[in-house]
Amino acid sequence: MSNAQSETSVEALFKPFTSSNLSVANRIVMAPMTRGYSPNGVPGEDVAAYYRRRAQNGVGLIVTEGTLINHPAAGASPNWPNFHGEAALNGWSNVVKEVHEAGGKIVPQLWHIGLTRKAGSQPNPEALSVGPSGLDLSGEKITQPLTENEIADLIAAYAQAAADAARIGFDGIELHGAHGYLIDQFFWGRTNHRTDQYGGDIAARTRFAAEIVKASRRAVGADFPIVLRFSQWKADNYDAKLVESPGELSQFLTPLVDAGVDVFHSSTRRYWEPEFGDSNLNLAGWTKKLTGKPTITVGSVGLDNEFRSSSGDIAKPADLNSLIERLENGEFDLVAVGRALLADPEWAAKIRNNRGDELSNFDISSTKTLY
Ligand SMILES: Cc1cc2nc3c(=O)[nH]c(=O)nc-3n(C[C@H](O)[C@H](O)[C@H](O)COP(=O)(O)O)c2cc1C
Repeated sequence: MSNAQSETSVEALFKPFTSSNLSVANRIVMAPMTRGYSPNGVPGEDVAAYYRRRAQNGVGLIVTEGTLINHPAAGASPNWPNFHGEAALNGWSNVVKEVHEAGGKIVPQLWHIGLTRKAGSQPNPEALSVGPSGLDLSGEKITQPLTENEIADLIAAYAQAAADAARIGFDGIELHGAHGYLIDQFFWGRTNHRTDQYGGDIAARTRFAAEIVKASRRAVGADFPIVLRFSQWKADNYDAKLVESPGELSQFLTPLVDAGVDVFHSSTRRYWEPEFGDSNLNLAGWTKKLTGKPTITVGSVGLDNEFRSSSGDIAKPADLNSLIERLENGEFDLVAVGRALLADPEWAAKIRNNRGDELSNFDISSTKTLY
């Protein structure tokens, strides 16, 4: 690792980033990772210390684990953090304080899992799971479609979370529009069969997200960064496609830009993969090219195999040479790091100080503690 890395300077990763309303000390972002260490939905001191540890070791921007908007069927575990209620918001406020003291920035990832939620899940087993057309990710009908009134309530719940994020001192928000959860269930043709204004072609299917962005914007003002995470892949289907071409990607992104997204977080499992033929650009590269907005890339940064790969739950450190080349070329602006930052909270500092040979393997069992 260290020998391979020393051929390429890592300086580009440590240059400050500034855009119209977001500035970050360097290009390294902690990817959102659900951990399940918030009993009764309340993030405690251990969660604050976990995020602080990454900030003090050189992560510029932290995206928190998915944290649930105020809706009874948003989540499926009593240990996932809420983003509503006094106790949970006080917990988050403490997380923000710790991260800021350590010199980092932090945004919460606002989450609703839609119809990936199994009926009867905790903490609200009586609540009915919801989704745009009542279809799960395999396209099977399991409940009634959301009504327009219910959709309006969900949009209001996201906007309330955005307002609370601003009020308690976060540096922005990230909307979780990826991986087959609620917002993505609206985006994706397999799960959105609606014939009203929330369904139709790929541009029409962005309406739910666009209305969340606009309502959030009204709640937080022009200067508060709104990041949208999206993906082609779904939690149970790595080959799924939201869009098949740059033209379709553009139809998807344009209404979201118009609604006021500041930064796109284009989620892939391997950052080096070209998204479409004819070009080496990855999904974040295409997103930046088509929108002119800053983008975050993600997927196996610093590791030799991908998230939930078939080859097991262990990944070894890998060099960053092609990542840095792409960053220097301006393909994307920021780089999110997931598992490598679970394996080693000092990942960013070690990369910066040419201590890559001290990095350990990622082992899925390391998710069993909150260090
Ligand atoms: C333990 C774990 C939990 C995750 N939870 C979330 C989540 O809450 N929200 C999300 O958008 N992605 C989640 N992801 C995906 C990561 O954000 C990231 O996209 C993925 O791990 C690929 O990056 P990596 O190869 O650097 O790990 C999770 C990944 C892991 C390993």
